Amino acid sequence: MKELVLASNNKHKQKEIQNILTDYKILTLEDIGFFDEIEEDGNTFEENSLKKAKVISKFCKKDTIADDSGLCIEYLNNEPGVYSARYSKEATDEANIEKVLKKLSGKKSPAKFISVISLVKCSGEEYTFRGEAEGMIITEKIGTNGFGYDPIFYVKELDKTYAQLNDEEKNAISHRKKALTLLCDYLKKE
Ligand code: IMP
Repeated sequence: MKELVLASNNKHKQKEIQNILTDYKILTLEDIGFFDEIEEDGNTFEENSLKKAKVISKFCKKDTIADDSGLCIEYLNNEPGVYSARYSKEATDEANIEKVLKKLSGKKSPAKFISVISLVKCSGEEYTFRGEAEGMIITEKIGTNGFGYDPIFYVKELDKTYAQLNDEEKNAISHRKKALTLLCDYLKKE
């Protein structure tokens, strides 16, 4: 089976990505013995995603993918965006959601999740693939599945939040799935 290294320590992302890229064995940072932090100091999802994949591809000399993702909320001027993981001081899912709900002060807002998957090959070639998923930020948490902002991201067509979807249902429609589909299309054509 072909292998791809995933430049992420996020167990939820690892699981979602492995469930979608079934033709590949996804190696984690633990598998390749990388235990440092990579600072995400870019201004765009593309910059951060490429940075993570480049650092790891250089370290292990293997084809590497990375996901940089986040939530853009229309009525908060597209915050938290690239700062989604560390929006609150505590930088926990709970505190991040609290901050969003406080800032929206009882209002709902259109929003989108964005995922940029990058591929950096050991030859040095670089590619990025962007997926977006639209929804609505609601005023309270509903559901217990998933991670991050899933409990407040509501999808009208399904009448559910992401946190009410099982793995299969989320993977059928998510921003990450859309970006990974573009990556798969590219890998098939290679
Ligand atoms: P990063 O890509 O590691 O910088 O972090 C992305 C952050 O965006 C996560 O920590 C979550 O807070 C949020 N996020 C990204 N994708 C999702 C998702 O599928 N559901 C919920 N939150 C997400």
